[in-house]
Amino acid sequence: MSDMPLLKVRDLSKFYGKRIGCANVAFELWPGEVLAIVGESGSGKTTLLNCLSTRLMPTTGSVEYHMRDGGYRDLYHMSEAERRFLMRTDWGFVHQNPADGLRMTVSAGANVGERLMAIGDRHYGNIRRTASDWLERVEISTDRIDDQPRAFSGGMRQRLQIARNLVTGPRLVFMDEPTGGLDVSVQARLLDLVRGLVNDLGLSAIVVTHDLAVARLLSHRMMVMKDGHVIEQGLTDRVLDDPREPYTQLLVSSILQV
Ligand SMILES: Nc1ncnc2c1ncn2[C@@H]1O[C@H](COP(=O)(O)OP(=O)(O)O)[C@@H](O)[C@H]1O
Ligand SMILES: [Mg+2]
Repeated sequence: MSDMPLLKVRDLSKFYGKRIGCANVAFELWPGEVLAIVGESGSGKTTLLNCLSTRLMPTTGSVEYHMRDGGYRDLYHMSEAERRFLMRTDWGFVHQNPADGLRMTVSAGANVGERLMAIGDRHYGNIRRTASDWLERVEISTDRIDDQPRAFSGGMRQRLQIARNLVTGPRLVFMDEPTGGLDVSVQARLLDLVRGLVNDLGLSAIVVTHDLAVARLLSHRMMVMKDGHVIEQGLTDRVLDDPREPYTQLLVSSILQV
């Protein structure tokens, strides 16, 4: 791990009119670290993730990002073009619903290859070979390379979305309920796959989930949200095995329906 945080988040708040989306969030994310954001529905997880990934502008606060050149930049003071460039090169975003992160009517190979072309790769043979390698890495048979994702199962679509995001070698991946829409048996396999890839690639990731088992399996550290506020954060094992806040204790003991 590098000795500089990848993200420095300070005093981040997002209000929708008078309604709190998230409030006064502060943390640092380190290279290679997986952070889970947990909490019941409506607690502000998606709002926070969308602010961090600049899909949403916060009302107050700053997020400093450690650029590849070594300097820090405030994400909210970048131009739209710079942000788009980061999203294409340094970041991935895995949506809960794969249809939101894929192009459903172009081939699986093109879904992966497109991201390579977006960063300047123009060699058709290389693009196809890399796309094919990535299909294999996410356990999609390469003879499906010319099929469209609309012909795939939910689990395959989600694995394709992951390949599309990781093919460009991002440093940071945002995931919103990555296993949310899948059958339990498919979830377990996908989680294993994601955990393996994140480890192998040394990725940093921020994973939103209402499922504490997902947080347990994937994350090093977690933040618990309630009514837009982070009420507890710490190492995942510590928070789950020895929760300090009464609300977290309820969550962990599954008394709350999340
Ligand atoms: N676009 C929006 N306009 C108004 N209120 C919103 C909007 N999106 C979310 N909210 C509100 O912000 C709070 C947090 O929502 P959200 O971030 O979606 O939570 P979660 O992802 O944990 O379910 C909720 O009270 C929700 O109703
Ligand atoms: Mg949400």
